[in-house]
Amino acid sequence: MASLWGGRFSKEMDDLVKEFNASIGFDKRMYKNDIDGSIAHVTMLADCGIVSREDKDAIVRGLEKIKAGVESGEIQFTVEDEDIHMGVESRLIDEIGEAGKRLHTARSRNDQCQVDTRMYLRDEIDEILERLYYLESVILDKAEKYADSITVGFTHMQHAQPVTIGFIFMAYFQMLRRDIERLKDTRKRTNLCPLGACALAGTTLPTDRHQTAELLGFDAPTENAMDSVSDRDYSLEFLSDASISMMHLSRWAEEFVWWNSQEFSFIDIDDSYCTGSSIMPQKKNPDIAELLRGKCGRVYGDLMQLLTVMKGTPLAFNKDFQEDKESLFDAVDTWKASIQIFAHMLENTEFRMDRIKAQMSKGFLNATDIAEHMVKAGIPFREAHSIVGRMVKLCETKGCELEDLTDEELSSVDSRISKEVLGDISIEACVEGRKSFGGTAPSEVRRQIEVGRNWLNSQAE
Ligand code: ARG
Repeated sequence: MASLWGGRFSKEMDDLVKEFNASIGFDKRMYKNDIDGSIAHVTMLADCGIVSREDKDAIVRGLEKIKAGVESGEIQFTVEDEDIHMGVESRLIDEIGEAGKRLHTARSRNDQCQVDTRMYLRDEIDEILERLYYLESVILDKAEKYADSITVGFTHMQHAQPVTIGFIFMAYFQMLRRDIERLKDTRKRTNLCPLGACALAGTTLPTDRHQTAELLGFDAPTENAMDSVSDRDYSLEFLSDASISMMHLSRWAEEFVWWNSQEFSFIDIDDSYCTGSSIMPQKKNPDIAELLRGKCGRVYGDLMQLLTVMKGTPLAFNKDFQEDKESLFDAVDTWKASIQIFAHMLENTEFRMDRIKAQMSKGFLNATDIAEHMVKAGIPFREAHSIVGRMVKLCETKGCELEDLTDEELSSVDSRISKEVLGDISIEACVEGRKSFGGTAPSEVRRQIEVGRNWLNSQAE
């Protein structure tokens, strides 16, 4: 089959070159966008008097037919098509003849592949946002459920201070909120229309790029034709957003893995979200959490791939840019699936409060709170810190907890302290008291949940 661009050539492309050069294997994913873009383009060409109404009607009918043919599986693209743009155009010409040859007026595949990708990505962003909203709503519900449930807060993987489980959930809520805000911002720069930029420098024909932008639901046409065909920043932004968000999911997945370990057993992941071992009959592995952690790596790879492709490419279009799609598609698929599966894993996980409680007495979790009680009694914090340090040392030699120390033992550490000075140092009282803005007290976590819910409700608008 002769290529649509074959005029100046005296030989067919080598078969290996055909294979190597083609993007149809992956860009056929955007066939709908490609056809919708062409329908808007020819509508504009007709309105501007560049093609006749009759030709436009024939082209639109032909394109609709091709769309239906691809959907039904009747049309199959092959490497002979090279890319989706030529796959659709050559079929249009086969279908309607002469009129079909007018479609590719005042555009180029350089702008066409970009209008397709931007439309594709815009729709995927909307779907990803929906999934992120859902994940956030699951987090809020769980945070509410566990707003009063106390667990160990870690720093350096060491027992640090008691916190509520709801508080941990709300930390992840904030991360995902930033992911959402970042993605919405990326959408603004994605939703600009490069169609009509042509090869690199615009056209002498009297086109109306504002019209095509509007017909396709873009906010505006892109400003500069040269930039329009060589810009992949919106994809890079998306890949960065995906990388950061996958990093968040990966961090939480890591917590799931160790919360689920024999040593911790802080959580119980439903059987439907775990797998067994083919040799060890007793195993219940957190494979889904591990896989989520691992998937982050491939999205980072996607980002690095495109950053590297773009580096050092001169203006305007270069064939290197065709390498912008597979990594983008991979990141879309991976991120989208990961968010959904994470939400369901959360819904299918409960905390084992009996196991957590057994750990709460270890590691002197109330030490900082005790120092703060001393501050309230007028002792400077630096001194209080040292006194509690000595109390801990005493407990370690005695093999007891801070709350077990007697008045005599306390005054032997420092004459200013007694059980009365320390007040209520139970774990519950410590958590209850951490009411500072953003703190872990249940009342404060409930405030965070309310702010979060209001924000989430406002996002759908
Ligand atoms: N298939 C290409 C892509 O996906 C678009 C074609 C532009 N190629 C060209 N030789 N001008 O980026």
